[in-house]
Amino acid sequence: MTSPTLAIEIPVYGRLDLRVVAARGAELILDDGRRLLDFYAGHAVVLGSHSDEELARDLAEQAGRLRFQTSLIHTDERDRALTALRAFAPAGLGRAFLVNSGAEANENALRAAFLHHQRRGEPRRVIVAIEGAFHGRSAAASACTWSARKGWYGFPQAPFEVRFVPVDDVAALEAALDRDVAALIVEPIQGIAGARDLDLDFLRAARDLCHAQGALMIADEIQCGLGRSGDRFAFEAAGIVPDLATLAKGLGGGFPVGALLTSEAIAASLAIGDLGTTFGGAPLACRAIVRVLEELENGLLERVRPLSERIRARCRVGPVTEIQGRGLLLGLRVPSGARALRDALLARGILVGTSDDPEVLRLTPPYVIDEDDVDRLAAAIAEVAA
Ligand SMILES: Cc1ncc(COP(=O)(O)O)c(C=O)c1O
Repeated sequence: MTSPTLAIEIPVYGRLDLRVVAARGAELILDDGRRLLDFYAGHAVVLGSHSDEELARDLAEQAGRLRFQTSLIHTDERDRALTALRAFAPAGLGRAFLVNSGAEANENALRAAFLHHQRRGEPRRVIVAIEGAFHGRSAAASACTWSARKGWYGFPQAPFEVRFVPVDDVAALEAALDRDVAALIVEPIQGIAGARDLDLDFLRAARDLCHAQGALMIADEIQCGLGRSGDRFAFEAAGIVPDLATLAKGLGGGFPVGALLTSEAIAASLAIGDLGTTFGGAPLACRAIVRVLEELENGLLERVRPLSERIRARCRVGPVTEIQGRGLLLGLRVPSGARALRDALLARGILVGTSDDPEVLRLTPPYVIDEDDVDRLAAAIAEVAA
């Protein structure tokens, strides 16, 4: 396919040979008229339908009336988005700061954690993270990202000490979490690692160990939050509430937004100027947030569990030997190779994701897929030789 992009854009993405021009529900429409059933949702971003006329109306109305204001000024749109976010979040995470991406949300969560200890006169210098984790590509976020160790995304050194502990290893976590640790950052379900769901007992032990050592717990819910696990937040299944949680991806339904949620106590330890952003919480972004949270509250989130159960029941066929993850963040184990199955499904009109694990195919569909879509996926997988 010829594309001007190839001659202009810096070549850092291996792009699929597809051109999407429109969409309906969970179906993408290509320039040659073919339709693709989407189990990927653009890096897990689109939770509802791929085309949303209500969002289009909201954004058009907003742009026509008030296009932009920064955090320096009050707006009704920001008030509504923050109120909706507080209603969506569990008690204990009622304070929020709006940003533009996942990496930026994590960057600010880490900064807030360090500042919190500094302000109490007990500075700490270490972050504990989990092997396999992905937290973003900015300096602090990528310091806590496991694969960054291999190449460090080009930076010569980490901005602070990070101790990685193996997944679900309570003893290793206990050994790493001493009183130098400002925070533990954890994805309750590791997305890019292949929808690897952490043991709920490990998450509960992590919560207790953080309390015991005075370290803060940051839940990165950027991929597994906003209903994708079947709960509003993936940490809820463990019956815990972290000190900070980060959201992005689905929060704007395609509009670039992110959020840092935290408690009253941690919010109170931050001062004017500690965090900042030009675009965070801008009116257009806030309209997108309100729209997505309304969709989730009005029946979208309830779709996740039954669809997840159907995938689990029907898709362990052909080359798929096991299914991991929760909700609509699922990893299909394919010992013969995830990429080959991804390509075979693409040839059959179905788009799925891969992961850091070459044996794990990642499913992150929009929540508007239906039972027939799942059955179509299962039938397509079954056609592929093990
Ligand atoms: C769990 C997790 N955290 C953080 C990020 C980074 O988000 P962004 O790409 O919006 O910076 C991602 C992106 O895939 C993610 O999956």
